[in-house]
Amino acid sequence: MNVLVVGSGGREHAIVKGLLKSKGLDSLYCAPGNAGIALDCECVDIKAMDFDGLADFAEKNDIGLTVIGMDDPLIGGITDVFEARGLKVFGPRKNAAVLEGSKAFSKELMTKYNIPTGDYRVFDNADEALSYLDSCKIPVVVKADGPALGKGVLICGSKDEAADAVKVIMRDKKFGDSGNRVVIEEFLTGPEVSVLTFTDGKTIRVMSSSQDYKKAYSGNKGPNTGGMGNYSPVPFFTPDVERYCMEKIFKPTVDAMASEGRPFSGVIFFGLMITEDGPRVLEYNARFGDPETQVIIPRMKNDLLEVFLACAESRLSEIELEFTDEAAVCVVLASSGYPVSYEKGFSITGLDKASEMEGVSVFHAGTGKEGNNIVTNGGRVLGVTALGPDIEAARKKAYEAASCISFNNKYMRNDIAADITRETLWKMG
Ligand code: AMP
Ligand code: GLY
Repeated sequence: MNVLVVGSGGREHAIVKGLLKSKGLDSLYCAPGNAGIALDCECVDIKAMDFDGLADFAEKNDIGLTVIGMDDPLIGGITDVFEARGLKVFGPRKNAAVLEGSKAFSKELMTKYNIPTGDYRVFDNADEALSYLDSCKIPVVVKADGPALGKGVLICGSKDEAADAVKVIMRDKKFGDSGNRVVIEEFLTGPEVSVLTFTDGKTIRVMSSSQDYKKAYSGNKGPNTGGMGNYSPVPFFTPDVERYCMEKIFKPTVDAMASEGRPFSGVIFFGLMITEDGPRVLEYNARFGDPETQVIIPRMKNDLLEVFLACAESRLSEIELEFTDEAAVCVVLASSGYPVSYEKGFSITGLDKASEMEGVSVFHAGTGKEGNNIVTNGGRVLGVTALGPDIEAARKKAYEAASCISFNNKYMRNDIAADITRETLWKMG
């Protein structure tokens, strides 16, 4: 089967590398891809939001499955456009991708179906939101309703800060129409875990857990980013906790979407916090995580194309997922100044040396090509993933491989997967 992957980041590179091992694969394409993905498959110069252009390409090249990596095309309805033309897609339709596209929708869904999450109120009027703040406990969390490149969540340590957040989102429209509504949410505490799941709308299968380091600088300092590194599996996400989440969160979410007439097919990414009172959903994403994918897919034993097809063809019940016992650690190499401002266009050296190390994969995110050179072309440039018998060994190897790679203004956190949380304060009853 010919397969097309849509996206251009480290997540899509990990998906491409996973698909290359699939038995049923004939030709693999990625649109638009990046300089590293181009080393593994043919990249096609069509933008992820050009739905008709992508569907034309899929028709002309006899693509049997298109895998959507990114959130924007899913939220924008790429799956509906493809399906209307008789093309098969891995990824939810627009009416299901709203689970990520609108935080107000997802909070209301959780309330309606008793899925544990923080207390909240939704406002579409700034004055009402501002007066509600008077009755809120501090800290409080203010969230833009719609997508905001991971920057629409503001944790506010005072009422003034929260009022500013409401004004910036709703009046100044910092995130455009995504700020037409705000969610004002109770501040929760506890360790966080990312859990990716496959679903076909009826059956759900849980992949392994991972933990993301979202802050830009070591010691969890600085602004939030898309993710500076992560590891898998997460020790405190034990089989018992997973069973609890399956019963109270994962399955109820899939069933709720089906009951609402919005069957979800693809990946649901559960962003969870394990509070003293138990697991709470912080957010849903309607796609694989980045960099979560870079530690999950290297640990997955299944044939990835078979799993994607089982989701798209509503027969996921036939599949059991299998993961290696090895741990994985991914360290992101970024351009210094990310996520605010940074320079691009610097030559990258040492890529081969790092990739040739046993158990190491180098995933390209923001890379481009200038002549024969691979150059930096984004904030997050590369993700270096290493497998090892345990997290400490994987961590050591990931940092060793990362140190082989050089480019001007290279920046990485030095504490990915160091001092990890092993237990939570929550005791299951
Ligand atoms: P989200 O995009 O909703 O996952 O939020 C991004 C990050 O903000 C999360 O990973 C948490 O670290 C933090 N966050 C979101 N909601 C809350 C909350 N209710 N309480 C505390 N932290 C939160
Ligand atoms: N790493 C978080 C995300 O993909 O949303």
